[in-house]
Order: sequence, then structure tokens, then C-alpha cells
Amino acid sequence: KWSAICRARDMKLYIISNRLPVKVSEKNGTFSFTRSEGGLATGLDSLQTAYEKHWIGWPGICVDNDSDKQAIGEKLEELNFHPVFLSDTQIKNYYEGYSNSTIWPLCHYFFAYTLYKDTFWQAYREVNKRFCETICRLISPEDKVWVQDYQLMLLPGMLREAVPDLCIGYFHHIPFPSYELFRILPERAEILKGLLGADFIAFHTHDYMRHFISAVERVLRMNFKLDEIQLGNRVVRIDALPMGINYDLYHNASTQPEVRQAVDRTRKLFGDHKLILSVDRLDYSKGILHRLRGFAAFLEHHPEYHGKVALAMIIVPSRDHVGSYAQLKTKIDEEIGSINGAYSTMDWTPVYYFYHGFSFEELTAMYHMADIALVTPLRDGMNLVAKEYVAAKSENPGVLILSEMAGAAVELTDALLINPNDTGQIERAICQALEMPVEEQLRRLQNMQKIISTQTVDKWAADFTDEWNDICRKNISFRKK
Ligand code: G6P
Repeated sequence: KWSAICRARDMKLYIISNRLPVKVSEKNGTFSFTRSEGGLATGLDSLQTAYEKHWIGWPGICVDNDSDKQAIGEKLEELNFHPVFLSDTQIKNYYEGYSNSTIWPLCHYFFAYTLYKDTFWQAYREVNKRFCETICRLISPEDKVWVQDYQLMLLPGMLREAVPDLCIGYFHHIPFPSYELFRILPERAEILKGLLGADFIAFHTHDYMRHFISAVERVLRMNFKLDEIQLGNRVVRIDALPMGINYDLYHNASTQPEVRQAVDRTRKLFGDHKLILSVDRLDYSKGILHRLRGFAAFLEHHPEYHGKVALAMIIVPSRDHVGSYAQLKTKIDEEIGSINGAYSTMDWTPVYYFYHGFSFEELTAMYHMADIALVTPLRDGMNLVAKEYVAAKSENPGVLILSEMAGAAVELTDALLINPNDTGQIERAICQALEMPVEEQLRRLQNMQKIISTQTVDKWAADFTDEWNDICRKNISFRKK
């Protein structure tokens, strides 16, 4: 079996995530296929691997009739994407419910937003089971199955039960909260047992890893030896592996003609204003309101910058059927309206607001142009926007202002690190960035580029698979004894 694992090229790697990297939508009976948003899909989609890569996940649309399912399925299968279709009720209770109204707020330290409902939990189990059945239908026992993220935490355990010798990995893309928070969850033991079905579990940072170990030790009363725990005839290993980006793609983007055209359009729109950029999915964890308040305080206290600075705020719609997200959208609209109402003049608008996704070309043009990237999440597993901005700076300067609550802050220490809850600190960081000498901007960018050009998404995946292979090999030889 081990020789089979080593012959990576003959083997298939199945990436399993709630969402496929392609999102299907329907208009007048015609289906269209677009890229999915979020760090997981964008990061993993560009991954190059020695394995034959397959992807299993939800295609982002609920369809009832079998012929539509077949049509979508056939198109996706051409790309080695295998859809798991979910019903409206499952999306409501598993995706909007347990995943995004229970686990997500809890892991991001918003426990006041956390809803506990048995219907959510039942749907979460049901959908994890459905994924398990689809995987078992598609794979051979010697394939590798890499489960992604918090929507599928029961899946490793279910797969272990169904195919005991399967090589299973799990990566957690969001924060793993401290034990004191995690213990609040009624299903804490089931979730931890589900995760421990994997051979190898990794997180973005050592803190998340430490919190996970502490939760296992205290909830399940099991003991780790350093980064490993023995469970019957197998060992589970834990590690911290910060996810990276496709560095070259972003770094060389501005040489593409389409991007250059987008740069020209961006320049026309913003003129010679200093440009502050913010890019996020709509999410309360991203600290968008805190950022707007910081910017408003900056405008209030620094009239000398009026007419000279503009904030471009790109918000990608997300989870807008979840109550807390819909309410946030209303508050953001109000806050932006109030800033623009107070400060706009006949020839200056302080906040440009875009509530839709940008194409790669438009986004990288904005990265290229922006004098400052303002990234202020209240909690964030990693935050790839911060890395993309730094990577996209090939010749011109720029300053990254980054929340210390983002996983990316561990690596990007040459950013201006701020506490997003401190409005005064955001305001001061904006001033510092605007006044920072170009040589210092370039020096800080280069220091950060050194790190992210080495720790790319491919390196991250290679590190993950190396360590995962190592532990699978140990487990297989242990079982043979
Ligand atoms: C975060 C999560 C991903 C998720 C993405 C987009 O990055 O870690 O698992 O896919 O957000 O969220 P959505 O709910 O639209 O899939």
C-alpha cells in the first residue's frame, strides 16, 4: 500500500469542500458557471499538484429536477468537479444554520451571534453523511481524501468508519477558538471526534493548533504527546501550516494587457487621490464597520486630507440570507451614506462603494494602484487579501495596514499592525501610511514579499501532503504489525 502512496502520479487526490471553486447560477433556464468567492476556493483552485486532482462539493445552486442535475453534473465532471446537490432545506439548516449561524460565529469569537438549534445539528450530520456517501461512491481505498473546513468537521470520522484504512487529511481554514469558547458548543465532543477521524489535521497558526489540542484534552480527556495522539491502531498528527497564495500570478499580473487597461480605467476614476483599498466578503468578522469608523475619525481630525484621499470599499455579497449578514449590510450602507453625506463636495467623494465581486484583472489593477490596503478583521483565520496586495506590488510602493487578529499577521510583521477595536489606532495608521517615505514602503513590502513568495499555496499543499503521507505511512505499517 505504501508504494502505492508514493506513486503520487498514479493517484487521485480528492479535495472535499462545502463549495466547489465554480458557482452555478441560473437565468431564464440557462445555467452559467463563475468562480466562487472566499480564500479557500481561490487559494486551492490555483493549486498545482502531482496528483490527479478531483474536487467534490456543492455547486452553489439548489435544483430539483434530475435533468438539470445531470446537465450541471456533466459540465462540471469535465473539470473533475463532482457536485453534491443539496436541497433548499439542507442549505437553510446545514449551510446557513449550523455552519454559518453556529460554528462560524463561535470560531470567530462572536458567541452572542451563535444559534443552537437541533434542526441545524441534524442537518449538519445529514449533509456530512451525504458527502461521505458521495465520496465512497467515487474513490478507491488507496486514493487520498483531503477534507476542507468547518462545514465538514464530522466527515473525517464518518469516512474512517466507512473505509478504515483511507488516508484522510483535514485543514481548518478559520480560527479554532480557545477552549473556553469551544466548550459552549453542545456538540463539542462529536465535532472533535469527527475531526480525529483524519490522519493529519492542520491549522493556519500555532495558536489555533494549541486551542484544538487543549479542547481535545479537556473535552475528550485524551492526551497528546507533543503534536500526536494515539487512537487505537493509528496516530493523528496536528500541525500549523499557514496557507499562501499563487505569488507569481499576483506579482506578474500588472504585465498583462487586460490588467494594464484596468489600471488605466482605475486611474481615470480615482484621479490623483491617494487610494485606500479594502476588499472583503460581506461578513461581521471582517470589521468593516470598525474600518469605516476609523476612516470617519481620520476625516474628522485631518481636514488637510479632504479632497486628497479616497477609500475604495469592495464588498463581495455573501450569506445574505443569514440574518446577521443582512443586518450588517444595512449598517454598512448607512455608515457609508453618512460619511459621504458629511464630507462629499462637488469634486470629491470620500468613499467609493462596490457591492459586487471584481474580476481578477480589475482586482489586481486596484491592488497595483492602491497606496494603502486597509485590512481590519476582528477575527480572520488567515486573510489572503493581505497577501495578494503585497504580492501584487511589483514596482510601485504601498502600505499594508493589517489587523493583528488575522492569521496573516503572524507572517506579515512588516505591515502596520493594528487592533481593529481601537478607532484611534486605525486613524493613526492611515496617517502614518500616508506619510511613510517611499523607501520605507518598499523595504517593508520586500520583506513581506520574501516570505510570501516562499510560502506559496503550492508550498503549503506540498508541506501538508508530505507530512500527511508520512503519518499515513506510519499508520499503515503500524496496522500491519
Ligand atoms: C471562508 C471559509 C470558506 C468559505 C468562504 C466563502 O473563506 O473559510 O470555507 O467557502 O469563506 O464563504 P461561503 O459561505 O460563500 O462559501
